[in-house]
Amino acid sequence: TEKKRIVSGMRPTGALHLGNLHGALQNWINMQPDYDCFFFIADWHALTSDYENPGNIKKYTRNMMIDWLAAGLDPEKSVLFVQSRIREHAELFLLLSMITPVPWLERNPTYKEQIDALQNKDLSTFGFLGYPVLQAADIIIYKAEGVPVGIDQAPHIELTREIARRFNHLYGRVFPEPDTILTEISKILGTDRRKMSKSYSNAIFLSDSPEQIRKKVSQMITDPQRIKRTDPGDPSVCNVFTFHQLYSPTDLVAQVDPDCRSAKIGCVECKKKMAEHLVAYLSPIRDKIEYYKNHTDQVEQVMAEGSDKARQVAAKTLAEVRDAVRI
Ligand code: ADP
Ligand code: NA
Repeated sequence: TEKKRIVSGMRPTGALHLGNLHGALQNWINMQPDYDCFFFIADWHALTSDYENPGNIKKYTRNMMIDWLAAGLDPEKSVLFVQSRIREHAELFLLLSMITPVPWLERNPTYKEQIDALQNKDLSTFGFLGYPVLQAADIIIYKAEGVPVGIDQAPHIELTREIARRFNHLYGRVFPEPDTILTEISKILGTDRRKMSKSYSNAIFLSDSPEQIRKKVSQMITDPQRIKRTDPGDPSVCNVFTFHQLYSPTDLVAQVDPDCRSAKIGCVECKKKMAEHLVAYLSPIRDKIEYYKNHTDQVEQVMAEGSDKARQVAAKTLAEVRDAVRI
């Protein structure tokens, strides 16, 4: 095909929430018609930080594929696969590690940040330091021309380009240097107004039931200045209003804005209205999640077929790589 090839992955660390959907997955879904897409579940990467407690990775991998399929990733349009099923990633990682200077990894801005952020884990491992080298292998093994990522991941893609350039310089040109395709991230806030994250128990998951959604929405923090029912509110600082903008029809949004500012509507009523539109928005996704949970053989088949397709491409690249390295 003439379409530009892109590669991106997600770590299977738990159920997907609205932040993952709007911040990453929806973007992938939108790219499917226009790009030659390879999307993978990065289970080896999950081990870099969860190596002490790996028991859930297989379950999370399957559940992540279920969430992907339910949200609209389509195995007819994209190659959907599981990283650890393509051993070639590991071989390329090893070869790239030979040519990657350690200071390139030590100066990676997210490296120290994450070590500081995840104090409860010992991340002084070789695997954690080498995470961006494995990531480079994941990407260039498919000769990706672009990688859709948020701004926080941009330094990693720059490192991928540097590693590809160094390989080509030493052994002859095998890899294109992939472009960073920046996703304008709409950062979704959780029920407590912090960034929505599975680690803060402030997330609404794609798989939540209508009852769970209504309960979580009822607990959402609104405009902190609005204390009494009669206080006027400010929609521009209210996360419930942001959710209205995402899920409610435009005429309701246009009505909620002035009604909040004049205290005509209270937060309880406003949340109830929004919750129903969020429930309706997630309902087809949730139905599909239910379907795939009852048809895990189909999910397994998607992962097997996608991984077979990916492996063919990866094996072809590896043959060129071994030639280039003369090994
Ligand atoms: P990781 O732990 O590998 O960073 P996460 O599960 O945190 O992965 O996130 C997966 C994807 O979802 C990433 O692309 C991330 O930027 C995006 N994401 C996570 N939380 C949010 C959020 N609250 N708003 C927008 N995007 C988010
Ligand atoms: Na994250």
